[in-house]
Amino acid sequence: MAHQNVYIVSNSSYVPKGVMTNQDFEKMVDTSDQWIHSRTGIRERRIAAEDESTSDMGTNAALKALKAAKKRADDIDLILVATLSPDFIFPSTACIIQEKIGASKSAAMDIQAACSGFLYGLSVAKAYIQSGTYNNILLISSEKLSAIIDYEDRNTCVLFGDGAAAQVISNEGPGLLVGEVLLGADGSQSELLCMQGGGSRNPASIETVKQRLHYLKMTDGQAVFKTAIKKMAEAGSRIMQKANLTSDDIAFFVPHQANLRIIEVLAKKFNVPMERVVTTLQKYGNTSASTIGIALDELLQRKVLKEDDKLLLLAFGSGFTWGSAFLTFKKEDQHD
Ligand code: COA
Repeated sequence: MAHQNVYIVSNSSYVPKGVMTNQDFEKMVDTSDQWIHSRTGIRERRIAAEDESTSDMGTNAALKALKAAKKRADDIDLILVATLSPDFIFPSTACIIQEKIGASKSAAMDIQAACSGFLYGLSVAKAYIQSGTYNNILLISSEKLSAIIDYEDRNTCVLFGDGAAAQVISNEGPGLLVGEVLLGADGSQSELLCMQGGGSRNPASIETVKQRLHYLKMTDGQAVFKTAIKKMAEAGSRIMQKANLTSDDIAFFVPHQANLRIIEVLAKKFNVPMERVVTTLQKYGNTSASTIGIALDELLQRKVLKEDDKLLLLAFGSGFTWGSAFLTFKKEDQHD
């Protein structure tokens, strides 16, 4: 049986209105705009309102993506939500969004792959569509990281922000044709970037609150930095080899947005000049699973893509997890 083609037919994003600048952090912890900008590239990030949840932001992005794809909520067969900051441990945020958008005919599940969540979700969506199981999948990435950030910990609080993105992924184009998607994981250093409280190992208690275990912790930023570069470089080389592509074939590089220095090293490795690298972290910081979708939206809004332009996507996150993908811009549906 011939495999179905798989397209991202629409890509939308939503960021909350609240802006938190580096100067705001100067009043909260021992830091400076100069330190944050020179070490990370970040100037500001968006922060959700107190009553704005991960599912609310995901719903906003999802409704925009449905509209852009000219699809009704009932056309959707499956909702996937990539998040590490769900509304609740259960039920899934995907079920909550399903109800909010009225997608009564869809199945729904969350995907937990931290900052690689978008690429893990894309790979799941691709497999379901390629096999003919489903025709229309709504992939949503949404993060309210401000809910799990320790605003007394200068090592982590300056890095992260809130935001969401959503894609309608279908068996008919036009749109971004999904090529190879490769994933990887290594659980041996999971303690370097984690949230220890609230699960079955450390159920919530007065002690876990006192020990600040309900916050995201990064114990060795430099080790995470080095592993991120190593794994994304390997993932990029592997996918280029598998897809038989060279650096010259990359029209745009859309990497996970954690640190501008990480992105610059990778751009150099893959020989992509910074004008063709999409960076949004200056404005939004690291929005974990949502970064690539938000960056893709910015790129598509610029309307610079030409027929057959290829995009290289790379991600890395807690777990550790990582992934790579190639997308090709197609103005018309490609029939086999
Ligand atoms: N303001 C001022 N100083 C800070 C600071 C802040 N917000 N955060 C940390 N520092 C201090 C540290 O305490 C350390 O001080 P010390 O030397 O007295 O101990 C000093 O800055 C240097 O820390 P270092 O770890 O060498 O900085 P760095 O150049 O590695 O940059 C990160 C720190 C966190 C920006 C960087 O390691 C990083 O981006 N890591 C990867 C993050 C990442 O990718 N996370 C998500 C993966 S999805």
